[in-house]
Amino acid sequence: MKWSNQITQLIGIDYPIIQAPMFGVTTPEMVIAASRAGALGSLSLGDLPAERCSELIRSTAAYVMKPFAVNIFVNHVPEVSLNLRLAYNETKVFVEQLALQHGLEVALPELDSIHITDYREQIDAIISHQCKVVSFTFGNLDAQSIKRLKDNDVMIIGTCTSVAEAIALEEAGIDVICVQGLEAGGHRGSFQEAPVPEIGGFSLLPQVKEHVNVPLIYAGGLYNASTIHSAKLLGASGFQIGSLLLKSKESALLDFEKARLSHVKESDIVLTRSFSGRYARGIKNTFIEALDKSQYILPYPYQNKLTGELRKVAKANKNVDFVNIWAGQSIHSYSELSTTDIMQTLIREVENLHTSLVV
Ligand SMILES: Cc1cc2nc3c(=O)[nH]c(=O)nc-3n(C[C@H](O)[C@H](O)[C@H](O)COP(=O)(O)O)c2cc1C
Repeated sequence: MKWSNQITQLIGIDYPIIQAPMFGVTTPEMVIAASRAGALGSLSLGDLPAERCSELIRSTAAYVMKPFAVNIFVNHVPEVSLNLRLAYNETKVFVEQLALQHGLEVALPELDSIHITDYREQIDAIISHQCKVVSFTFGNLDAQSIKRLKDNDVMIIGTCTSVAEAIALEEAGIDVICVQGLEAGGHRGSFQEAPVPEIGGFSLLPQVKEHVNVPLIYAGGLYNASTIHSAKLLGASGFQIGSLLLKSKESALLDFEKARLSHVKESDIVLTRSFSGRYARGIKNTFIEALDKSQYILPYPYQNKLTGELRKVAKANKNVDFVNIWAGQSIHSYSELSTTDIMQTLIREVENLHTSLVV
C-alpha cells in the first residue's frame, strides 16, 4: 500500500517519509537504503567543497532510481576582523590545553588555513549533476540561487524554526518547508546563530500551517507511528526521521559512538554551541560542559572549523568526551537494523495505526 499526498506527488516517492540529512552520520548507503524503502533519502553535503559534493552525489545517484534530496548549509559567514583573529587564537589555545589535560594531543588549524565553502559553488555542482531536490538549513538561499534552481526544475526545501522564518521562506519562493521543532537532534536550523527560537515542534507546526500555504515537512522527535500521526494532524504532509537512524547499519557513527547511545538518559541530551558556534542538540560530555561555561565560543563556522581536527583525533582515539554525538529528545532503542528495515517497519506501523493517514 502507498500513501499518496502532496509530498509524494511533488517529489515522486512512494511514502511521505524523509530520511533526515545528518551531516557526519548520513552516508550514500543510508540514502540508497532509505530510497529502497520508498522514502526520500537526503544526502548531507553540509559545507563540503564542490568537488567532494560531486563525488558523493555520483556515488549515490548510481544506485538510486527515485529522486533523492541533497542538503546544504546556507549560513552567513562573518568577516574576519581583528577581534575574531584574537578570539580565534585564544580559543585555539584553550581547546588544545583542555584536550591535553584529558590525554589528547592535538594541533588545531590556524585561522588562515581554514577553507570556507561558498554554497553557490555547491549549487553549481548540484545543478550539473541534475539533482531533483535540494534542501537547506541555517537561513535562506539568495534570490539568484533560487532562480537558478527553479530554472533547472530543482524542487527546493527550506528549514524553519519559527513562523517568521517560514513566512520568509514562502515569500522567497521556496517550494516546501521543513518545520524543525526544538526536540530535533543536531543543529537548530534557525536563520540566525543566537539567540534561536525556542518553540517546541508541536506548538510551532500548527502555527506555521496557519501562516503559509506550501506543503510542510515536520522534523523533531518523530520515531513511531503515533508521533507521525500527531504531526499529520497538526498539519504536516512529510515526516522527517533523524535520530531513529543513528545506530542503523548505514550510519557513519563508529561503534564506540553507537555504544554511547545505548545508555543515554534524558538529562544527557543538551543544546550546545560548544562544537560549532551554532546551537545543536546532542549528548553532553566533558568538552560540552567545559566550553559552554567558558567564553571560548566563536561564531559559526569558525568554531566548527577549529574543533574539526579535535573531533577527528578523538574519534581515532575512541574518546567519547571530545566527539559530538548529536541526538534528539525522543530517546528510544536506536535499532541497529538497516535504514530500509527501520523505515519499512515504521511505514507498516503507521499503516496499522490509522488508515486515515493513507489518503
Ligand atoms: C547527527 C545529526 C546531524 C544532522 N545534520 C543535519 C544536516 O546536515 N542538515 C540538516 O538540515 N539537518 C541536520 N540535522 C537535523 C535533522 O535533519 C532533523 O531535523 C532532525 O534529526 C529531526 O529530529 P530527530 O533527530 O528528533 O528525528 C541533523 C540531525 C542529527 C541528529
